[in-house]
Amino acid sequence: MSEKRIGFATRLGAIAASVGSAVGLGNIWRFPYQAGQNGGGAYILVYLLCVLLLGLPIMMSEFIIGRSTHKNMRGAVEQLTPKSPFKVFAYVGVLGALLICGYYSVVCGWVLEYVVDSGEGLLLGHTPEQYSEIFNSLVGAPQRCVLWTLIFLALNFVILNKGINKGIERMANVMMPLLFVLLIVFCVNSLMLPNSSKGLDFLFSIDFNGLGWKGVVDAMGQAFMSLSLGVTCLITYSSYFSDDNHLMKDAVTISSLDTLVAILAGIVIFPAVFSFGMEPNAGPKLIFEILPTIFQQMPGGVVWAVLFFVLLFFASITSTISLSEIPITFLIDEYKLSRGKAIAITAVLMTVVAVLSALSFSTLSDVIIAGRNIFDFLDFVGPNFFMLLGGLVTAVYVGWFLDKKVVHDQLTNGGKHSARFTHPYIIFCLRFIAPVAIIMIFLYYVGII
Ligand code: TRP
Repeated sequence: MSEKRIGFATRLGAIAASVGSAVGLGNIWRFPYQAGQNGGGAYILVYLLCVLLLGLPIMMSEFIIGRSTHKNMRGAVEQLTPKSPFKVFAYVGVLGALLICGYYSVVCGWVLEYVVDSGEGLLLGHTPEQYSEIFNSLVGAPQRCVLWTLIFLALNFVILNKGINKGIERMANVMMPLLFVLLIVFCVNSLMLPNSSKGLDFLFSIDFNGLGWKGVVDAMGQAFMSLSLGVTCLITYSSYFSDDNHLMKDAVTISSLDTLVAILAGIVIFPAVFSFGMEPNAGPKLIFEILPTIFQQMPGGVVWAVLFFVLLFFASITSTISLSEIPITFLIDEYKLSRGKAIAITAVLMTVVAVLSALSFSTLSDVIIAGRNIFDFLDFVGPNFFMLLGGLVTAVYVGWFLDKKVVHDQLTNGGKHSARFTHPYIIFCLRFIAPVAIIMIFLYYVGII
């Protein structure tokens, strides 16, 4: 049965699609502002440790489940461990993906509007306060926000409708290299600004005073978000991998490139922030308010601004594509729907969540869940509940319940190469480090530690 299922055409395509999933707003928008708020270098160091001890092993656990069965999580668990209750987590993953993608597309809508506005020169010639007003007025305008979100989602589903090879893979093959080129150009530009070394000092000098427990927990959450873990995204993608892909090498490539992009984004942003005398800890609005201030002071500012937001658009659409593919593959596999029908159902559900989130700064700002508006609530439960719970589940499932032989087969491609070091490292992290770390984060959130 699995033979007939389509897959990524090439290994490079599979990697490009997964890097496309991983590299997103998380790297270019979230990572720099979190590093900025948590003291810079020390946060980055902890983040790297999280990738090594949690991110990479959990990514491998998702790859093992997806690639060994070529199925979505529900079908995969059913095949690997019949009657195991773990399969209910497939639904948690699908729900998590719908909710995360719903609010994520709202930010993507802002990005689209910034591409257009900066192209029209509207983001030039203002004071920092005015940039803040411009951003707040966009966020607070119900029709504009909804319209841009819907345009973004339409683009997203048009690409998905072209299928795994002609849609997802081809897009990633074009957009990812472009994204890297743009990012390098931005880095060079940023490093040539006066006082750029101050920004580098901030990013790379390690001072644990600015970090604290909050910084450590943020870094763990960020690793989950950035590597697309916990909501069965990589189970879904790896179900389309070929049996020849070397999973460990692929996972190392994907997480290294993802981390590289996050650090490069920091190198783009912080030298500029310091060079123009701005504050590094501006929070989520860092790129929407601070960067336009910076672009307009640079020669050729309009071009830089457009290019930057286009880069962000590439990064984000390859991520929403991967999130949307989770329910789509699930519906196709489990309910035998056609791809078109599965896309239609996913699009409707996601649009509902997205519109509600887009309105949560204006029309629906009175709707408060657990002390937060809809958007902020989803931004909280997505990374802090769905991704962490899913990460815990896949780690425990592969670490403790899955037949060791399946793990070994997947790591060695049926004995073709050795996994003498990687096998024990992954199993140890999945069995002990990941569960303890994730449970500690949960305890931190409920205020016990
Ligand atoms: N990794 C993406 C980012 O950094 C977001 C993302 C895409 C994601 N797919 C995911 C997060 C699946 C969690 C699960 O922006």
